[in-house]
Amino acid sequence: MRLKGLTALILTATLILAVALASLTVLSQPTEAQAKDAFAKLGCTACHNGKVAKTWDEIVARWKGLSGKYTSLNDFVKAEVTEEVKTRGYGEPKTWDELFILMSTFVGKKREDTKIVEEYLASLLGIGATPTTPTPTPTPTPVTSPATPPAEERGVSFILAAVAAAILVLILVAIAFYLSRRSA
Ligand code: HEC
Repeated sequence: MRLKGLTALILTATLILAVALASLTVLSQPTEAQAKDAFAKLGCTACHNGKVAKTWDEIVARWKGLSGKYTSLNDFVKAEVTEEVKTRGYGEPKTWDELFILMSTFVGKKREDTKIVEEYLASLLGIGATPTTPTPTPTPTPVTSPATPPAEERGVSFILAAVAAAILVLILVAIAFYLSRRSA
């Protein structure tokens, strides 16, 4: 009986840990809500309001529709974006890097600040967030992998999730332990 209880305890703990780890992995990816929030907080919505330029929702819907059509982010920008920005008289970004450097300058921010937005938007195209060309400005490119969440943007939800998961694991281990004692 004791052995059965212990096995149940170990199994439960393992299961809960696996679930917690899986949810943490999902949480560390930028979600649509986080990207949309970053887009608004950066001030991009000053132009992306449906008048000067497309709204966030319009961009997301359009890019989802173009998913799988291009194999590189630069090809995508050249074919789908360059002309549109140029026509409106806002410059002529020819690569993914140029596009986001240009857009971040409009709001007085650094290129790094748009990472969450970039990662999310790139994921819509099914290409991947890593730009294929080196940054053509002295702006330092972060050495961290694109998947690493900038602490100030995603740290809070990540830490909260980690704490919640830890508490959940503790509670369930305690219950399993109690049950195993009772059945022993
Ligand atoms: C000064 C105005 C202005 C600001 C501020 C601005 N943009 Fe833009 N953006 C444009 C214009 C104009 C276009 C081209 C027209 C369009 O796509 O709606 C564009 C296009 C884009 C596109 C391509 C959209 C598509 O589907 O073709 C992306 C992505 C983008 N901007 C991201 C951003 C981000 C991120 C920010 C904030 C860091 C930002 N923009 C801030 C004017 C602006």
